[in-house]
Amino acid sequence: MKIVVVGGTGLIGSMLVNKLREQGHEAVAAAPNTGVNTVTGEGLADVLKGALVVVDVTNAPDWEGAAVLKFFETSTRNLLTHEAAAGVKHHVALSIVGTERMLESGYFRAKMAQENLIKASSIPHSIVRATQFYEFFKGIADFSTDGNKVRLPHVLFQPMAADDVASAVGRVAVGPPVNGIVEIGGPEKLRLDEFIRQGLAARMDPREVVADPHARYYGIEVKERTLIPEDDAKLGKIRFEDWLAQSAAQIPSAQPQPTGGTAVTKKKESHRKAS
Ligand SMILES: NC(=O)c1ccc[n+]([C@@H]2O[C@H](COP(=O)([O-])OP(=O)(O)OC[C@H]3O[C@@H](n4cnc5c(N)ncnc54)[C@H](OP(=O)(O)O)[C@@H]3O)[C@@H](O)[C@H]2O)c1
Repeated sequence: MKIVVVGGTGLIGSMLVNKLREQGHEAVAAAPNTGVNTVTGEGLADVLKGALVVVDVTNAPDWEGAAVLKFFETSTRNLLTHEAAAGVKHHVALSIVGTERMLESGYFRAKMAQENLIKASSIPHSIVRATQFYEFFKGIADFSTDGNKVRLPHVLFQPMAADDVASAVGRVAVGPPVNGIVEIGGPEKLRLDEFIRQGLAARMDPREVVADPHARYYGIEVKERTLIPEDDAKLGKIRFEDWLAQSAAQIPSAQPQPTGGTAVTKKKESHRKAS
């Protein structure tokens, strides 16, 4: 089956392309550096020829409110229009658990707009909503760092490994369209502050994590269950502890950072603007 993975060079996309190829599918990675741009429409007609399924795992380069909304609206509209013309039978998109509960943030308003365009289209679809990826635990800490303290709310959190996300999206992509939402989450329910504390300790990061009921998550006010999926969510297998051990061995940037590594990222800045 020809499956086009749009954003197929990204974190989830590259894992997904490999998994689909291992199963014998013709998985095609589409992204600007393979000549496909969903914002301008460049390369879309060609890459979708003969495709039965399209999986959208793109992400916006700029998370400032207006920019991210423009990205997901334009990209999704272009994709759906070209898919209809090419006779694509299933559109799968990766979204985020709790999107409708975090509309205070421009990023989540953009993801909501993406979902709404998909639901309103004529293409059979499946929206996979995942919880936070383990891969971003340090980004959460950096965003919430104040001096040597990381302030986070003590709310429930059920993050998962990108590898489990890619497996779950792959299963949905080769199955029938659900014409609705599938939620996926991690194997363990933790507290947000506990999760970050565990991650930083494993990386020998000296920052102190403080549970603060007034603290926000990426600038968003969150409640006890804002970030977790419903009880019927499909759960990944990889536990955070195991992922920490495995990723420390594989990724140079995941090695212990005695200085705490509190660099402010571009996305953090954009999140600030967006929220
Ligand atoms: N972070 C989380 O915890 C989380 C949780 C649940 C869901 N999600 C969702 O998961 C999705 C994928 O995230 P990710 O971390 O895998 O993203 P990522 O690593 O940033 O990859 C994004 C991909 O989109 C491509 N892309 C960017 N602009 C494009 C364009 N105009 N046309 C075609 N492709 C374009 C990128 O290509 P280039 O590299 O060439 O630019 C890259 O292949 C996002 O939609 C996000 O909302 C994230």
